Amino acid sequence: RKKIGVLTSGGDSPGMNAAVRAVVRMSIARGCDAFAIYEGYDGLVRGGDLIKQLYWDDVRGWLSEGGTLIGTARCAAFRSHEGRLQAAKHLVQSGIDALIVCGGDGSLTGADLFRSEWPSLITELVNNGSLTKDQVEPHKFLTIAGMVGSIDNDMSATDVTIGAYSSLHRICEAVDSIGATAFSHSRAFIVEVMGRHCGWLALTAGISTGADFVFIPERPPVGSAGKTWEDDMCDSIQRRRHRGKRETIIIVAEGAIDAELEPITPGYIKELLVNRLSIDTRVTTLGHTQRGGVPCAFDRILATLQGVEAVEAVLSSTPDTPSPMIGMNENKVTRKALVDAVNQTKAVAEAIGRKDFRRAMELRNTEFEA
Ligand code: F6P
Repeated sequence: RKKIGVLTSGGDSPGMNAAVRAVVRMSIARGCDAFAIYEGYDGLVRGGDLIKQLYWDDVRGWLSEGGTLIGTARCAAFRSHEGRLQAAKHLVQSGIDALIVCGGDGSLTGADLFRSEWPSLITELVNNGSLTKDQVEPHKFLTIAGMVGSIDNDMSATDVTIGAYSSLHRICEAVDSIGATAFSHSRAFIVEVMGRHCGWLALTAGISTGADFVFIPERPPVGSAGKTWEDDMCDSIQRRRHRGKRETIIIVAEGAIDAELEPITPGYIKELLVNRLSIDTRVTTLGHTQRGGVPCAFDRILATLQGVEAVEAVLSSTPDTPSPMIGMNENKVTRKALVDAVNQTKAVAEAIGRKDFRRAMELRNTEFEA
């Protein structure tokens, strides 16, 4: 019987439990045993009780739970060779031959590296006496599949990541509430949202709430005709205020930068509104309220479809096929080469670093074959 392990890694995201549930139940339905690895890669490195078989009923009710019930971590140990060696030993000892990882680009990069190192890791474990040749014989090849769980929606090669829409819903609710108090006091609110180096949450929240301004990393503001962006923003807010608009909402991605790659902070925007326009202004940092909470229906569906596909992907993998990343493109669940998706995601950051913002946007959206 094939043994399939599943873990969640990096920042939790709503829908991760639905993904684990789907992997567990689909594995069982396809005649395999399912194992949860608790606490992300930490569970692999530490082994023991952190690797546990899960049965059909164990995941009952998980669809609607926020966070991740099997725990997660940003695991430093797995970044070291020694950590990955321990992880390989524990996988072999528990008999797991396929691993499904639900996490962000860092976690999936780790998964791909682990798979490429696998033959040398198990050879080392035999040579140093940690495992016998007989133990590693059935584990010469490790199958891996990645599912992208992240509120940031920052992975290239997939239109959407598990958790992004739940987080967006939460942001919209918060901004709607803020809108009411902003209107009451004729105030401006600068709302900082998460997303790391990606502006998707800020941009889509801005569209969904009709915000006055949005600042994102991929499209730094530029001034028009001899003016600075600060002049343009203040002029435009002033115009709207003169037309009777009482509230001003500005959404700032936590990674927002200007054309010189300097951070644009909520505090700086507040100073502009207070000093130039004398508007009573408050800053609200939504923080982790955006990440916790129940998954929206879309994330439950996305995670379930992708969990099912991830199991199918590991069952049909061969040593010659690249590790797949399960994505969603134009409303269809897709398999892409994990290594390509990860490299393309890295290329976005590099393009931003050399101020090639157009290329960064292209790379986010470019499609490539699996
Ligand atoms: O990647 C998800 C995310 O929530 C980012 O949006 C944010 O920058 C980061 O994680 C926060 O990390 P932590 O929870 O470790 O503070």
